[in-house]
Amino acid sequence: MKIFLDTANLEQIKAGAALGIVDGVTTNPSLVSKEGMDFKTLVGKICEIISGPVSAEVVSTTCEEMVKEARDLAKVAENIIVKLPTTVEGVKALKICAAEAIKTNLTLVFQPLQALVVAKAGATFCSPFLGRLDDIGHDGMALVEEMRLIYDNYAFSTQILAASLRHPLHVVQAAKAGADVGTMPYSVFQQLLKHPLTDIGLERFLADWKKSQG
Ligand code: E4P
Repeated sequence: MKIFLDTANLEQIKAGAALGIVDGVTTNPSLVSKEGMDFKTLVGKICEIISGPVSAEVVSTTCEEMVKEARDLAKVAENIIVKLPTTVEGVKALKICAAEAIKTNLTLVFQPLQALVVAKAGATFCSPFLGRLDDIGHDGMALVEEMRLIYDNYAFSTQILAASLRHPLHVVQAAKAGADVGTMPYSVFQQLLKHPLTDIGLERFLADWKKSQG
């Protein structure tokens, strides 16, 4: 499973990139608004740090305006993925972007039919928001499982980007369910290598080694 960071914070992205396992970045208007920097400048800077896919979301709601924004964003860097909402207008815009070879990430997906439609329309990535489904008492991970089955049944090339992952267990479950990508906040990314027994074990090994060396 590819690992994406779900943040627009340059310090977090630099720190994550230093580990060498960050395959891409997802942003959204809420994350971008926290950074207090011009949108395209910020996204351009992220693309300089990360060579993999970097999602940048449109903020208009009509097909025509979304396509205009998509064309503009696609010029920022080669690795930009234009994030479009999974609405009727968003899917119309997706078809046009796909025809122009603009890569897309269809966001705010909450049920399998949305995932089927965006794959048929040529989305590069499709983002089910698992945490937000869990928040309202639904089983977010079941959606990834359904999407995996549907996409495999028809050999769709759209990648499943498990989003709204809130804790390490979500990451494990997304990987088990066959998500192509998991995008996570930096706080969850930091927990990927954490286990208290690793720390205790290393401490003991080093203490024993020190003793044996006199
Ligand atoms: C993904 O692309 C979204 O930016 C993100 O995962 C949303 O997560 P949230 O539901 O925790 O805001």
